[in-house]
Formats: sequence, structure tokens, C-alpha cells
Amino acid sequence: MRLTLTDFRNYAHLRINAHLGPIVITGENGSGKTNILEAISFLTPGRGLRGARLADIKRISPALVTDEYLPTEITNTSWAVSALVQKGDDEVEIGTAVERSLRENLDEARSFDKRIVKIDGQKVTSQAELGRYISAIWITPQMDRLFRGGSQPRRNFLDRLVYAFDMEHAKRTANFEHLYKEWYQLLKNGQNDDHWLMSLEENMAGLGVAIAAARREQIAKLNTFIEHEPDDVFPNVRLELEGTIEKLLDKLPAIEVEDYYQALLKKQRRNIMYNDNIDGVNRTDFKVYYRRKGMPAELCSTGEQKSLLISIILAQTKCQTLDKGFAPVLLLDEVVAHLDEIKREALLEKIRELGLQAWITSTDSQLFDSLKNEALFLEIKNNQVR
Ligand SMILES: Nc1ncnc2c1ncn2[C@@H]1O[C@H](COP(=O)(O)OP(=O)(O)OP(=O)(O)O)[C@@H](O)[C@H]1O
Ligand SMILES: [Mg+2]
Repeated sequence: MRLTLTDFRNYAHLRINAHLGPIVITGENGSGKTNILEAISFLTPGRGLRGARLADIKRISPALVTDEYLPTEITNTSWAVSALVQKGDDEVEIGTAVERSLRENLDEARSFDKRIVKIDGQKVTSQAELGRYISAIWITPQMDRLFRGGSQPRRNFLDRLVYAFDMEHAKRTANFEHLYKEWYQLLKNGQNDDHWLMSLEENMAGLGVAIAAARREQIAKLNTFIEHEPDDVFPNVRLELEGTIEKLLDKLPAIEVEDYYQALLKKQRRNIMYNDNIDGVNRTDFKVYYRRKGMPAELCSTGEQKSLLISIILAQTKCQTLDKGFAPVLLLDEVVAHLDEIKREALLEKIRELGLQAWITSTDSQLFDSLKNEALFLEIKNNQVR
């Protein structure tokens, strides 16, 4: 993979030629290690591994440093990430960029940022298309709280695992969110246009049931895989879904669940006025258990929780490689710091065995001596890679 960043966070222009295998990125705090991983995460659908606002990513040039790089006036691109990736025997250029656009209303013109996706120079309409060429899974320090906090980050984590297998899932979740916002706003503004609301509810129910079904399938696939090929070092997990729509699919055919969901949405219209929760696939929780102990992940220790996460992504990686014939790119931000030596070495050994591309950051390059012969070592200093 040849990765190029333009005006992305602290990088004016950065190019990395990466091989298949581990890539160890080291550097001081604030040197720009996580930013590189974040850039790669933008080659998949969604908002990257920080869930950032698009506008925050555009490079802010420090006033005191002379700036040799001037973005050209002709384009109005704000920032960009691209990569030349191998697809079978061919090389494909995939990329994403954010453009300034102007939205004109009746009385005002407002500029806004829009993320565009290009494949071999051609704009494509859906971010999900990227899934044909690359998929990525990440573990970041923010995810230390994944099992303890609210359900949304867990849901997002699961949905990303799903779209590695089922590209349509990225479109479905994005469309659902879009309809949900519209429906919510209508009701909040007291616009009780029954016909309009009904049509939104019908579409949401259809998408929602497809989302729930895809999540169930993914969980079942991973649970079966883990049962048959338990890991020898990392604690094996048991995965569960807690959601009204997902549970109903145990008992009823999809078409009936759709009717139920549509009726449920209609019944919940007034919840919005009272700021009550809206039940449905937007509330589903993804529960993880330490299989052998029968312990919910949220009650496990910090190191155990990290190991459970690693265990999930290893199972996903192996499943995906078997199923799809290509492995995801792993983005491991400060992951090894929490692991004891046995687990650390085991993880590095597994990455080596899997022969996939893994970007690993750390402030300490000495932890990676065992990868001396396989890994590409990059050190970041002054916004450049050495
Ligand atoms: N839009 C931006 N423009 C320029 N610099 C930015 C922008 N957003 C963030 N930065 C800076 O990028 C720097 C590198 O951040 P990054 O999170 O990649 O560091 P890191 O090497 O992962 O550090 P740590 O070891 O602390 O995790 C930070 O100093 C941050 O302030
Ligand atoms: Mg970092």
C-alpha cells in the first residue's frame, strides 16, 4: 500500500510505502502516530477512528513555523487521504477528500464540508464502495472504555465488523440514521404530516430489520468460529445482542417483524415530545462475555478488556480472511502497552502468522525487538517519517 496524506492533521504532505506485514510507528507524544492510523481509517466508511468532525482534520499550520506548503487555489479540497492498494493482480487508487461546498438557501449561502470518495480517479456516490478494496479494524485507547460506557460506540464497533462482510450494511446504517433524523426533526417541530411520517416509518422498519438481521448473522458467525477455533492465548468471548428487533427475529419471520417495527415507531411518536427514548435498532446493545469465566466484559480488568477486544478482532480477521479471501488492515493504537509480555509476544506472533498489514503505534520501539526482521519501523519527528 502506498499511502498519501495531504493537509491531514499535522501533516502537510506525507507519503509512506508500506508492505504487507507489521508496520511499527514510534515517536514522542504528539508526534503524529495516531493521526496516521486515523488517516487510514478514513479509507473505510464512517467518521474514522476518532469519530472526528471533518472540519477538525484540516491541517492547522502553526503560525510560528514557516510554511513551505501552499494548497493550490484551483481546488477547494480541504484535506485528503489516498492509497494505492493491491486488488488481485491490479493496483487500484482509492481515496477520500473533504471539499468545501456551498449550499444556498432562500436567504443565505452557507459553506459546508462534504466528504467525497474516489476510486481510480472517479467519484463514487457511496462510501461503502471502499469496502471492495479495503477494510480496516482498529483498537484505540478510547476503546478502553468501550464495554463500560453507553451503547453507541459498541453498536458502531459491531456495525463496522458487519460491513467488512456485507458492504450494504454501511449503506443501510447510514440511510437509517438519515431517515431517523428526518423523522425525529419532523416530530420535534410538531409537523404531524401523517402521510410523510408513515412513509418514513415504513422505510425505517424495512432498513431496521435488515440491519438487525445482518448483526445477528455476524454475531452467530463469530460465536461459531470461536467455538470451533478457540484462541490459545487470548480469552475467548461469547457475543450477544440485546435489542427488541434482533430478539423478535428469533421468533417471527422478517416480514412480520417489519410490521411490528413500523407500528412500534408510530406508537413512539409522542415519546419525542417528552424526550423519551425511542426503542429499535438505534438502541441495540452489543454484549461481550469472557466465555470461560462467564463474566460480562464490563466487569473484567483493564488488561482483560483489552485482551477481549483483541480476541474479537483476531476472530473477525480470521473469519474474514477465510470468507472473503482478503484480510483487513489492523490499526493498533498503543495496544501493546497494556499487555503483559506473554500476550504482547503472542499478539506480534499472530500478526506475523496472519501475514496481514498491521499498523502498530507505540512510544517505545524496544517492545518490538521480536519483529526486527519482518516489520517496517517508522519514526516520526517534525511531522515527517524517517
Ligand atoms: N487539524 C490539525 N492540524 C494540525 N495539527 C493537529 C490537528 N489536529 C491535531 N493536531 C496535532 O497533531 C499532533 C499529533 O497528534 P497524534 O494524536 O497523532 O499524536 P500521537 O503521536 O499519537 O501522540 P500520543 O503518543 O500522545 O498518542 C498533536 O500535537 C495534535 O495537536
Ligand atoms: Mg496517539
